[in-house]
Amino acid sequence: MDICNEQLESYLVDTCDEESSLLKSVNRETYLRETMPHMLSGHYQGRVLAMLSKLVNPSSILEIGTFTGYATLCLAEGLCKGGVLHTIDINAEQEERVQDYFDQSDYATQIKYHIGDAAEVIPTIEGNFDLVFIDADKKRNHYYYELILDKVPSGGLILIDNVLWKGKVLNENPDNQTKQIIDLNGQLAQDQRIEKVLLPIRDGLFVLRKK
Ligand SMILES: C[S@@+](CC[C@H](N)C(=O)[O-])C[C@H]1O[C@@H](n2cnc3c(N)ncnc32)[C@H](O)[C@@H]1O
Repeated sequence: MDICNEQLESYLVDTCDEESSLLKSVNRETYLRETMPHMLSGHYQGRVLAMLSKLVNPSSILEIGTFTGYATLCLAEGLCKGGVLHTIDINAEQEERVQDYFDQSDYATQIKYHIGDAAEVIPTIEGNFDLVFIDADKKRNHYYYELILDKVPSGGLILIDNVLWKGKVLNENPDNQTKQIIDLNGQLAQDQRIEKVLLPIRDGLFVLRKK
C-alpha cells in the first residue's frame, strides 16, 4: 500500500525546505553506491526530523541505525550549543565514507559515531538522551525502547521509524515481522509513560513524548 502517492510526495518535497548541499551528496551517493538506498530517511522525512529536533533543542541525541548518516545530519541540526549526538551502526562497511560526511558537516565535533551492536553500545554511553531515533533492526524495537526509556527525561522525544511497514499493519493475515510491529504499536498505544502520535509520513513515524 502506498501511504503517500508519488505526486503528493513530490508536492511535500517542493513545499518544505531544501536539503543542504551535503545532504544532497549523501542522498545521491547513497543511491549510487548502496544496494538498499531506500533505507535512508530522504528529503521530506529528513526535514521532519530536523524540525522535531529543533523544537526539542536537545543537548543529547541517540540514533540507533546510522546507515549513511542522512538522518544523523538532519537530527544534528537541532542540537543545542555544545550538545552531542551518538549514532550507532553495526555495519562497518560505510564507516569511512560516513565519518567523512560528518567531518564535512557543521557538527563534526558533536557527532560520536559508534560501530557495533546497539544493544551492546547503548549501555556504555553515559548520560540521558533528550531525543532518540530508533531506526535499526526492527525486531528489536521494543527492546531498544525499554532500554532507553529510563535514560529519557520527562519531555524527551522518542521517534520510531517504519511503524506502518508499507501499510502491512492493516493486513488481516500479517506475516511474523508485521505482527511484531503491530504488537509494539498496540503496546505503545496503551503505554501510560508516554504521550504518543503516529505520523503517516513515508513508512510511518511514531512520535513518543516521555511524560
Ligand atoms: C534503516 S537503516 C538507518 C537509516 C538512517 N537512520 C536514516 O534515516 O538515514 C538501518 C541501519 O541499522 C543498522 N543496524 C541493523 N541492526 C543493527 C544493530 N543491531 N545495531 C546497530 N545498527 C544496526 C543497519 O546496518 C542499517 O545501516
